[in-house]
Amino acid sequence: MADKYKIQGGTQLKGEVNIGGAKNAVLKLMASAVLAQGESRIYNVPDLTDVDIMLEVINGLGIKTSHDKKEKSVTIDATNITSVTAQYEYVSKMRASFIILGALVSRCKEAIVALPGGCAIGERRVDFHIKGLEALGAKIKIENGYVHAKAPKLVGTDIYLDIPSVGATENLMLASVLAEGSTRIQNAAQEPEIIDLANFLNTMGADVVGAGTSEIVINGVKQSDLHPIEYTTIPDRIEAGTFMSAVVASKGKAIIRNVFPAHLTFFTDKLIKMGASIKLIEPTAIEVSCKNRLNSVNFVTQPYPGFPTDLQSMAMALLTTANGVGIITESLYENRFMQVPHLLRMGADIHQDRNHAIIKGVKKLTGATVSASDLRAGASLVVAAIMADGTSIIENLHHIDRGYENFDAKLTALGANIIRYNDETEITKGLKNESRV
Ligand code: EPU
Repeated sequence: MADKYKIQGGTQLKGEVNIGGAKNAVLKLMASAVLAQGESRIYNVPDLTDVDIMLEVINGLGIKTSHDKKEKSVTIDATNITSVTAQYEYVSKMRASFIILGALVSRCKEAIVALPGGCAIGERRVDFHIKGLEALGAKIKIENGYVHAKAPKLVGTDIYLDIPSVGATENLMLASVLAEGSTRIQNAAQEPEIIDLANFLNTMGADVVGAGTSEIVINGVKQSDLHPIEYTTIPDRIEAGTFMSAVVASKGKAIIRNVFPAHLTFFTDKLIKMGASIKLIEPTAIEVSCKNRLNSVNFVTQPYPGFPTDLQSMAMALLTTANGVGIITESLYENRFMQVPHLLRMGADIHQDRNHAIIKGVKKLTGATVSASDLRAGASLVVAAIMADGTSIIENLHHIDRGYENFDAKLTALGANIIRYNDETEITKGLKNESRV
């Protein structure tokens, strides 16, 4: 039965929240564990449906895995691999599982991986991944919706990415770890998750230099140089940015712990320009507060270190009640304004023209029944509901569950008035008789 959130807006968030491990790092680390024979263990793993899907993909290769949710760790024993196929059933559920292609090509010299296809937020092609693998010497056929890659010998080369694609950079890093000679990825993605992946690979015995800059060099090593490792994932900067937004939206004051503030510089700068206060209180803790009505700002989403597309919807929620007019340009995805019709139902004044959104701040939002259309759009509706007058119902929580661990519990601990329920529990709790907005 589909779960929903019921949020009563208007409470100020106060207290402390701990940020979990980065979804977009841990999924790639799990795929990378496949490279080394033996048992690797990854810590600071958030309990998310996307992590479960990646475990299913890895299990499908005949690799033993276990997930200790209490310890927040996963163990991947890649001593033996009995299949090189990643089925559509899983890859279609989560695009990030396409990263297994690079790992399998490296380790097994062959991979059969379903094409992920587009998704709600955009077409999301994989042409850079394929062209890069071909440049390394893989023979690629695309048949029946699957990429068949054969690579008896991969040889390092120069690869220039037209766009600094996160996924393509990662797939090509994995594919070139065991290639002969050096691979140079130019116009590489510079996200913190790329640095985490390079650190993971280097700890495992690989030789990756330059991660975090636009040029990454992977000097090929031998299979016997790689060994299983224990590794702790970096904190999730997007979860941290979401909680920062929720605190600011509520005009509250809270400490966000287990965050790497340097990963959020652009976003933090915009929040400060809007009138929020953000103080570094410890190397991995910030205090966020906001007293007055925010001021509008303009921004363009860009690859790291620019404004992160994954926090665009959260900032849009804040702009809906800010003083003045803000303009957002979404430059990474064709269709990442899916929160707009729902924010309009809550009383926002937003005009959308292709990849631009013009947001005229209104005095207040009012609660409404809305639906999460994708992960980040869904999270932005939670932020909007926290600042709205009255009650909001947010449907389709399975999208939010992909990227936020214990979201309602963490918000409740900060004082938010949020309940997770479905139609069955609603009857049990007698909420059905309460008024609906
Ligand atoms: N692109 C191509 N061809 C390619 C690869 C990418 O045209 O071969 C285009 C995409 O269509 C997109 C742009 O390049 O328009 C950027 O895509 P990128 O490859 O950088 O994104 P990704 O690796 O698919 C990761 C995150 C996303 C995040 C983006 C951008 C993961 C699992 N996902 O996606 O996170 O938005 O980088 O930072 O790491 C999310 O967490 O909600 C999320 C969508």
